[in-house]
Amino acid sequence: MAIAHDGKNRTNNAKLLQWVDEIAALTQPDRVQWCDGSDAENQKLCDEMVAAGTFTKLNQAKRPNSYLARSHPSDVARVEDRTFICSEKKEDAGPTNNWAPPAEMRAQLKEQFKGCMRGRTMYVIPFSMGPIGSPIAQIGIEITDSAYVVVNMRIMTRMGQKVLDTLGSDGFFIPCVHSVGAPLTPGQKDVPWPCEPDISRKAIVHYPETREIWSYGSGYGGNALLGKKCLALRIASAMARDEGWLAEHMLILGLESPKGDKTYVAAAFPSACGKTNLAMIVPPKGFGNWKALTVGDDIAWIKPRPDGTLRAINPEAGFFGVAPGTSYDSNPMAMESIKANTIFTNVVLTDDGDVWWEGMGVEPPKHGIDWQGNDWTPDAGRVGAHANSRFTAPASQCPTIDPAWEDPAGVPISAFIFGGRLSKTFPLVYQAYDWNHGVFMAATMGSEATAAAIGVTGIRRDPFAMLPFCGYNMASYWNHWVNMGKKSGLKLPQIFRTNWFRKDANGKFAWPGYGQNMRVLKWIVERVNGQVGAVESPFGLMPRYEDLDLQGLDFTKEQFAAITNISRAEAAAEVEEIKGFFEKFGQTLPPELEGQRQEFGKRVEKAPEVWKVVESA
Ligand code: OXD
Ligand code: MN
Repeated sequence: MAIAHDGKNRTNNAKLLQWVDEIAALTQPDRVQWCDGSDAENQKLCDEMVAAGTFTKLNQAKRPNSYLARSHPSDVARVEDRTFICSEKKEDAGPTNNWAPPAEMRAQLKEQFKGCMRGRTMYVIPFSMGPIGSPIAQIGIEITDSAYVVVNMRIMTRMGQKVLDTLGSDGFFIPCVHSVGAPLTPGQKDVPWPCEPDISRKAIVHYPETREIWSYGSGYGGNALLGKKCLALRIASAMARDEGWLAEHMLILGLESPKGDKTYVAAAFPSACGKTNLAMIVPPKGFGNWKALTVGDDIAWIKPRPDGTLRAINPEAGFFGVAPGTSYDSNPMAMESIKANTIFTNVVLTDDGDVWWEGMGVEPPKHGIDWQGNDWTPDAGRVGAHANSRFTAPASQCPTIDPAWEDPAGVPISAFIFGGRLSKTFPLVYQAYDWNHGVFMAATMGSEATAAAIGVTGIRRDPFAMLPFCGYNMASYWNHWVNMGKKSGLKLPQIFRTNWFRKDANGKFAWPGYGQNMRVLKWIVERVNGQVGAVESPFGLMPRYEDLDLQGLDFTKEQFAAITNISRAEAAAEVEEIKGFFEKFGQTLPPELEGQRQEFGKRVEKAPEVWKVVESA
C-alpha cells in the first residue's frame, strides 16, 4: 500500500524525493510528514507529545512555552562503544575510532531498519548547519521517527521550508537517517520514550567517504540530533580535510576591549571543563568595560577566506547544555537563555510546574518528580536530575549573543585556546612558540584520570577535544592542522593552552576561575595584538605577574607562583608519557609532532628543578 506523504510537494529535488521514498519503503512508517518548521507544526507536535506522555508542559507563567521530557533510563548519553566510523579502510578510521567494514554494517543496518517505523510517523527534517546560504554552511536532511527529535532540531538548527528552497532542485545535502528502534507490533501503542534498551542493538554509524549518517536505537540528543556531533563534527571533519577547512569542537567568543576593538577566539575543552560557561563568560565587576560576546558554545566551522583570515561560524542555532551545575553564579547568561521556549530533558519537575537540578543555586523543592518519574525529596539519598540532564534553548535568547553570530561570512579568528582539567604540572596559561608547537599542545591535551578509573594514572588524552568526534584517523587530522600552517597567505591565529584547575599545596583550586578567567582572556587578546609581555618557559610563552591584569582581585605573587611554577620532574614525565601516546599512531603520526615533543624535552632538560616565572622576569 502506498504510504501517504504530507508536504511532499515542498521540493522538486529529485534525489531527495527518491531517497525519502527509499527510506520509507525500507522502514514502513504509517505516514510521512515533511516538516516546514512553522510555529503551527511545532505546536501540534508538542501537543501530541504532551498527550502521549513524552512531554510535560511547564508552568506557563514561570517557564513560558517550555517542556520537560524524561528519557528511558538506559538512554541518557552518547554511546561511544556503539558509535562507528565506517571508512572503506580500517586505518582511515585510525586507532581511536570504532571501525566496522562498511558493507557488513550496511547489511546489518538494512536488517535493523526494515519495518522499524511501522505504527509511527516518519518525519523529514530539512536543516541547515550555519546561517542559510552562508558559504560555510551545509544542508542536511534528517529522517526520523521521533517527534522529540523534530522539535529539538527546530531549536538546534535552521530548519524547515526555507532550507528546501535554498537546496533547490539539485543542491547537495547530507542524508541522515534516524530511528528510535524498538519496532511496534501491529496494534501496539508507543511508549513515551521508545528506544532500544539493549545497548548492543544501538548503532550510530558514519560513512565519511559517502557523507552519510545512520543512527538506530537511541533518542538521546547526541545520538539522535544528527546535525550536531554526527554531521557538524564527524562527517564535517572529513569534508574539512578534503576541502581545506576546519570543523572543530570549539566555542567561539568575541572579546571587545574598552576602546571597542573586537578580537574573536575559538576554544576547545574536553567535556566537564566549563566550555559552555566560558562561551558565556561575564567579565568580573570593575573589569574596565571589557565585553564578552557569544557566537557559539560547542562547534565551530572555520574556513580560510581570500583575505587570508580564518573565518568561523557556529553551525548550530541553539544550546544543548548540561543542566546540573548551571546557576546564576556559574553561568548567568545560560540561566537567562533558558527562561522560555526551552526543552528540558531529565531534570526535576517541581510541584509548581517548573524545573530544578543539583547545582542550580536555588533551594531544592521540598518535593518534586525526579528524572525517572518518581516522587523525590532532597533527603531521598539520590540525585533528582540526571548528571547529563540537558536544556535545549535558542541561541538568540542569550543576552550576550554577538551581533555577528549569524553573519554568513563568519567572524575572523585570532586565537585558538585549548584546555584540560589538570591539578598539577600545567600552568594557568601559555602561548605556543609557533603553529606546529600549538598543534602539538592541542594534540596532547587532556584531563586527569579521575577516581572513577582505578589504576589509570596520568592524563587521559583528548586531542583537540575531538577524541569522540573526529570522523577519520586522528593522526591524519593532526597532519591536516600541520598542513593548514603551511598554506601561504594565511593569517594564522596564535595558539594557547589554559588550565583553570591547578590545585595548591592544600589541594584547593589555586585560580578562582569562572568570570575571573576573563583576566586570562585579556592577556591572550593583548598577546595577539602585540600589547603585552611574556617570558619563555619550558611549556611556552607565559605571562609575568605584571602582565596579567589582576586589578580588583586579591591575588598575591605567592598565589601566582602556585599556578605558574613548573616542576622539571613533572614536565619530564609528561614528555615521556606523550612518547607512549604518540606510538599508538605509528607511521601516520606527523613527524612535526614528534619533533615538537623532542624540542619540549630539550627545554625541560635545561630548566631548573623548579622553574619560576617570577625569577625569570
Ligand atoms: C556535548 C558533548 O554534548 O561534548 O556537547 O558531549
Ligand atoms: Mn560538545
